[in-house]
Amino acid sequence: MTALLRVEHLSHAFGGLKAVSDYRLELSPGEIRGLIGPNGAGKTTVFNLITGIYRPDEGRVLLEGKDLVGLAPYEIAARGLGRTFQNMLLWRHMTVLEHVKVARWSKVRYGLGGAFFGTAARRREEAEHEAAARKCLAFFGIEDLAPQVIANLPYGAQRKVEMARALATEPRILFLDEPTAGMNPEELAQMMTMIRRLRDELGLGIFLIEHRLRVVMELCRRVQALVFGEVIAEGTPEEIRNHPRVIEAYLGKEIVA
Ligand SMILES: Nc1ncnc2c1ncn2[C@@H]1O[C@H](COP(=O)(O)OP(=O)(O)OP(=O)(O)O)[C@@H](O)[C@H]1O
Ligand SMILES: [Mg+2]
Repeated sequence: MTALLRVEHLSHAFGGLKAVSDYRLELSPGEIRGLIGPNGAGKTTVFNLITGIYRPDEGRVLLEGKDLVGLAPYEIAARGLGRTFQNMLLWRHMTVLEHVKVARWSKVRYGLGGAFFGTAARRREEAEHEAAARKCLAFFGIEDLAPQVIANLPYGAQRKVEMARALATEPRILFLDEPTAGMNPEELAQMMTMIRRLRDELGLGIFLIEHRLRVVMELCRRVQALVFGEVIAEGTPEEIRNHPRVIEAYLGKEIVA
C-alpha cells in the first residue's frame, strides 16, 4: 500500500545553515508518527517545508502522488494537510468561534456578490460554516467557550482552540508542533486522549513533534530522531529510546528520563 503522504529528499538551507538534509517521510491515515530532536534540530522547519511556509531547495512533497511544492500554505491546507504551530498563532481579541470559522475560509466558495449583498445562498453557507465550526469545538469539548475572547482563556484551552481550528480545515493529515508544550499533567493527559481520538474516530494521520519521550512512547507507532537537520534514527519508540545515537544526542536532557 502506498502512503497518502510521501516526502522525498527534502532539503533546505537558511543562508549557509543547512537546516534540513535529505529528509524523507511516509504517512498514512490512521497512524501517528513522531518527530523528536534537540532544540534547533530542524523539526519545525520540516513542518514548514511540508506545509508550504518555506519552499524547499530540493525534494518533493507528494500527496496521493501529486507534488505540493510551490503551492501556497492555504492551498496545501485545502488539499488536506492541517497543522498547528509551536507558538500558537491565535488572535488575542477574536472569539473562539470566530477563530474556527475563519479557518474554514479555505473552503468558502461563494462569490463576491454574495459577500456584499448577503444573498440567501451566502447566509446558508455561513450557517453551514458555523455549524461545522461548532462541531469542531464540540470534538475538543470546548463548545461552551465559543463566545469567549482568546485572551481570557487559560493556556490549555487555547491549545484546544488551535487544534479545533486545524480540524476545521477538514484535514486528512494533521501536523502538530509540540502540542503538549507547557501543559500541566492534567492538560497533558487530555491532549493525549484527543490526539488518539483524532486518529481513532476521524481516521486522521498525525505527525507529531514532541519533546517528552513518554508522550511519543504512548502515542506513536514510529518515530524519527532529527539532529542537525538529519534523521539519525527511525523506528519504533522502543528502538529510538535505546538507539545509541539518540542517547548521545540527548545526553543529560529530559528525553532520556
Ligand atoms: N526563518 C529562518 N531563518 C534563518 N534560520 C532559521 C529560520 N528558521 C529556523 N532557522 C534555523 O534553523 C534551525 C532549525 O530550526 P527549527 O526551528 O526548525 O528547529 P526545531 O527543531 O523546531 O527547534 P525547537 O525544538 O527549538 O523548536 C535552527 O538553527 C534555526 O535557528
Ligand atoms: Mg520547533
